[in-house]
Amino acid sequence: MAGPILTHLLPDTAAIDAAGRLSVGGCDLVDLADRFGTPLFVYDEAHLRTRCREAVAAFGDGVAYASKAFLCGAMARLAHEEGMYLDVATGGELFVARHAGVPGDRLVMHGNNKSDRELAMAVEEGVGRIVVDSFDELDRLDALAATTGVRPRVLLRITPGVEAHTHEFVATGQDDSKFGFTVSSGLATAAVERAAAAGSVELVGLHAHIGSQVFEVGAFSRAVEVLAGFAAPFGLPELSVGGGLGVPYVEGESAPSLTEWAAGIHEVCEAAGVTARVSAEPGRAIVAAAAVTLYRVGTVKDLPGIRTYVAVDGGMSDNPRPVLYGSGYETLLPRAADAERPRAVRVVGKHCESGDLLVREGWVPDDLVVGDVLATPVTGAYGHAMGSNYNHVLRPAVVFVADGDAREVVRRESFDDLVAREATGARAEEFES
Ligand SMILES: Cc1ncc(COP(=O)(O)O)c(C=O)c1O
Repeated sequence: MAGPILTHLLPDTAAIDAAGRLSVGGCDLVDLADRFGTPLFVYDEAHLRTRCREAVAAFGDGVAYASKAFLCGAMARLAHEEGMYLDVATGGELFVARHAGVPGDRLVMHGNNKSDRELAMAVEEGVGRIVVDSFDELDRLDALAATTGVRPRVLLRITPGVEAHTHEFVATGQDDSKFGFTVSSGLATAAVERAAAAGSVELVGLHAHIGSQVFEVGAFSRAVEVLAGFAAPFGLPELSVGGGLGVPYVEGESAPSLTEWAAGIHEVCEAAGVTARVSAEPGRAIVAAAAVTLYRVGTVKDLPGIRTYVAVDGGMSDNPRPVLYGSGYETLLPRAADAERPRAVRVVGKHCESGDLLVREGWVPDDLVVGDVLATPVTGAYGHAMGSNYNHVLRPAVVFVADGDAREVVRRESFDDLVAREATGARAEEFES
């Protein structure tokens, strides 16, 4: 038995009317599902803007939105309008950010295996900072400078040797990691010496990212202490502590705010005598709670004595996190958002996998029926971004809501999109002759 959904898991502008119906940004969620179809990502624009402003106020100039959490043109523009830089990790993310009009010098380019093409793109687009991850990348930057004459500003990604208490797939600060230069092995020192002496890059600072969905400020503090101690002799002007601040997904979880996180980091930096500009790259903490996903219930299967399966029209293709990390979510019916939720169900998708589940332990009102719109909150990060079209299920539309208006910022995928990249014309004729 669960009570009504706790409002701290809902977007900032969520409101429940006298009839129990849930709206976000002044838009009724059931109406949005009827109008735009399901599955549907609904983002609260005011919530997104508030979190971006909070990040800028907490860290100052240089703080970047980690676009891997959720990227489309509208999101890139919004983060830029609110004064954030954008962290991009591939040529694709770089392209989308530039396509949206974000100036190159407001971008920070990441990636543990940047290709020649991606580095050339970064230089051509005048990316503000490249975060260098390996000696091979330094070789590539030497070669690039020899042909372009450009000396990009770089940070070096340092692995502090700190375990973050999170899922092993999103922990990156420990020594055994594919990312960065480890402090303990001496690779970090060698990398700084090499980059500082290189004519091909301008070394302006150091960077570390210990992992994602980290709740404990202590883990960040330990990483910053290592980083600050390591950085001190080099006197570089910039230090980025990466992203990774966790968010609550289910009842009973809580996490520090962006402001509290920044205060903890600044405190440790001050104590360690850091004089460099300290910045960060939150992703999840900006976008996760800003969105809910809406689904339509298609099948309710009661297995007596076992469980009830509620199947919806999306699944692991729009939210792979439960399958990848065993992540938990809450669920609710937007038509009865203030109702008690006495009925235990497992919310599953429509894919051909038993593992295709969205909510392992969900609670819903007793009167849930086929045709209901069902919502999962806190789905703004790493859902749309990590989604697929497995089983050729069409990728959902994305809608931004504010002040009673809903604008579709990404349209739903179409059947034509599914065949748009297939060989046609000459190739097809070749086969036919
Ligand atoms: C280098 C880097 N910065 C920032 C982030 C954003 O992390 P989060 O969304 O947990 O804040 C990531 C995520 O993996 C990352 O790899």
